[in-house]
This record gives sequence, structure tokens and C-alpha cells, in this order.
Amino acid sequence: MQEIIIQDSKTITHKAMSMFLALAKQAIDKRGVFSVALSGGSTPESLYRALCYDAIQAQIDWQKVHLFWGDERNVPASDPDSNYRMVNEALMKYIAIPAENVHRVPTEMTVTEAAIAYEKDLRLFFPGDWPRFDLVLLGMGEDGHTASLFPHSEGLADEKRWFIANFAPKRDVWRLTLTKNAINAARHVLVLVKGAHKAPMLTKVLRGDFNPIEKPIQSINPVDGQLTWLLDEDVASLLPPELIA
Ligand code: 6PG
Repeated sequence: MQEIIIQDSKTITHKAMSMFLALAKQAIDKRGVFSVALSGGSTPESLYRALCYDAIQAQIDWQKVHLFWGDERNVPASDPDSNYRMVNEALMKYIAIPAENVHRVPTEMTVTEAAIAYEKDLRLFFPGDWPRFDLVLLGMGEDGHTASLFPHSEGLADEKRWFIANFAPKRDVWRLTLTKNAINAARHVLVLVKGAHKAPMLTKVLRGDFNPIEKPIQSINPVDGQLTWLLDEDVASLLPPELIA
């Protein structure tokens, strides 16, 4: 199931927040826990900051929330590039979430060891063949990447693992990321896309010439779940009308 929601640039963060709250409440009511894989990037960061407001915090029982990372940079947790650090600065240091509910990628290890260790952590939390997150938050890069699944990266071909070390050829860096199959096992995937600069790639992605090697976000299609594209007007207004009808 796929849907596209368009919000003006001033309310897209509020919309993302209300979706996060609704999914958290639904999961906690049904199963007593809400598992979410967080994304890096400036767009998701605005959501984390919004979740800090007292009124919002009061609506979430953080004791029943488990935070994971959909991807991480191969840097220490204290590094300015760390997604863990970004979430900590934007959200975690303001909420009463138990330490055991925060599943940080152990980037103090080598990138290969960290991927293996994190997959073990995921398998301890999620029974079954794939990790069934209640929500996976994603952004989209101008090159069509999502999480740390980059164009022409070897990780795009991985069909077995849940979490991998993935080399980004054009960036010449190692990253850590959920695989496409792990993301597609989620109950809900929410892709946040803001800004006119994303329109050319988003047009190619939605137009449908399926080429996930060039446009990795095209490999995101939940097997038994909902995919929501949450777009701001700046990007949506530049898309061909038939793509968002
Ligand atoms: C990361 C993210 C990455 C991000 C996109 C979009 O670690 O950088 O996981 O996939 O979501 O690059 O980032 P912006 O929202 O900042 O454009």
C-alpha cells in the first residue's frame, strides 16, 4: 500500500509528528511496545525536535518505546556526523526513555563488527525471519539514496541480512544500514521529502522506470505494510501532476 501526503512547508513537521504519535499509540495499545527505526538527515531531525515539546512528550509513554537507527555513519557516537548524536541532541536528552530502550549502533567497533553486533541486537528484539518495525523513518537524498543504501552500492544486492556495512562508492565512505528487505518488513515506512531540490530525483523515482541500482529508494516497498511519502509543497509543486493525483 502506498500513499502520498502533501503538506505546506510550515506544517509538514507537525504532520510527521502526528503520524508518529498515532502509530506509537496504536502499537502500544495493540502490542504494548512501539519499535521505530530512526533516520539521519535534516528533514527527520526536525521531527525529532518537534517530539520534544512537553505537550507532545506527554502523549508518548517512552517506557514502551524502543529506538533503533535505520542507518549510521562509521564514526564515534560523539562525532558531529553521528546520527545517534543528532537524535540525542534533538530528542533523547529531553525525554525519559530507559537506556535499554535505546539501541545505538556500536560504531566504536570496526564497521563489519558493528553490523554483525547490531544485527544480533535486532534479532534479540524481533522474533521471526525479518525485523517487523512498527515504523521505519526514511529521508531521500538527491541521488535517490535512502537510509545508507546508495546508488551502485553492494548492499543493494543483499537478500539475507538485516543490517550491513555498506560502502558508498561516490562518497568513498563506509556506512551502516538496514537492508532493503529489513526495511520492507516494517508495518509502516514513512519517507519525509522536503525542498524543491529533491523534485528532479523524486520525479524519476515516482515515474516508475524501475532501476533501484540507480535509485535505491525504489527498492522500498513494504511486503505487508504501508508506505507513506510525506512531501512538502516546495517539492510536490514541481512534480508532474499525474504523479501525485
Ligand atoms: C543519513 C540519512 C540519509 C538522509 C537523506 C536525506 O544518515 O544521512 O539516513 O538517508 O535521510 O540523505 O537527508 P535530508 O533530509 O537532510 O536531505
